[in-house]
Amino acid sequence: MNDNKLPIHVGIIMDGNGRWAKKRGFSRSIGHKMGAQNLKKLLKHIYKKNIKIVSIYAFSTENFKRDKKEVEYLMDLSIKFFTDELKTFMKENIKVLFSGRRDNLRFDVVQAMNELEENTKNNNNGILNICFNYGGRLEIIDAIKKIVMKVNDNDITIDDINENLVSENMYQDLPPLDFVIRTSGELRISNFMIWESSYAEYYFPNILFPDFNAKEFDIAIEEFQKRNRRFGGITNENESN
Ligand code: FPP
Repeated sequence: MNDNKLPIHVGIIMDGNGRWAKKRGFSRSIGHKMGAQNLKKLLKHIYKKNIKIVSIYAFSTENFKRDKKEVEYLMDLSIKFFTDELKTFMKENIKVLFSGRRDNLRFDVVQAMNELEENTKNNNNGILNICFNYGGRLEIIDAIKKIVMKVNDNDITIDDINENLVSENMYQDLPPLDFVIRTSGELRISNFMIWESSYAEYYFPNILFPDFNAKEFDIAIEEFQKRNRRFGGITNENESN
């Protein structure tokens, strides 16, 4: 039986901003702007439902391959989002974390990220993990480097390396993803939190991100609640397969 459990940790791959804009004869930038507006409303709704941890794919390492103008627009929009939303995150008591590499980002972007992280670090009603300049394989490589350094420093031995240790050395010490939503109808995960989503349920609505509103999110949660999660073991619904 479905026990109406809510996911603890939800991931969202916010895809389809460009197509949303193109369909309306607007520039791709307008699509991103509408995506950011939608994200604000959506996050409010999600935390109100008592879902505690949200990870969003805001900018992948691969997104740097886009047209320079689009990348610059996304950087400016991100600074605006990180700065403007501080008030909301404080009011809603949400701690913001960033996952990804910062070394090749613009200084003003890193500054806005640091400020948001620092100002919200004591908030404890929910977590927003923003994957920014993020790649899932790169995160695993970075974890391997940290672990190799610990072995070299004799802090641990090779025999200490297990799944828990790898998880602890990922960018964040968060519970695994329970549910990953990718909007726009694309059936890929595109290097999003591949370690953390190994047992997640996936959901691929055919809706472009600016249109993925509170009602659509509730439909997604209903779908999650219908899934029978086995984690590689037998079903918890008394079936015998
Ligand atoms: C993918 O759509 C979306 C992105 C690469 C950017 C996501 C950014 C936002 C939703 C704005 C909020 C930003 C922050 C920093 C919180 P796409 O451009 O690939 O769309 P397409 O597949 O239709 O071209």
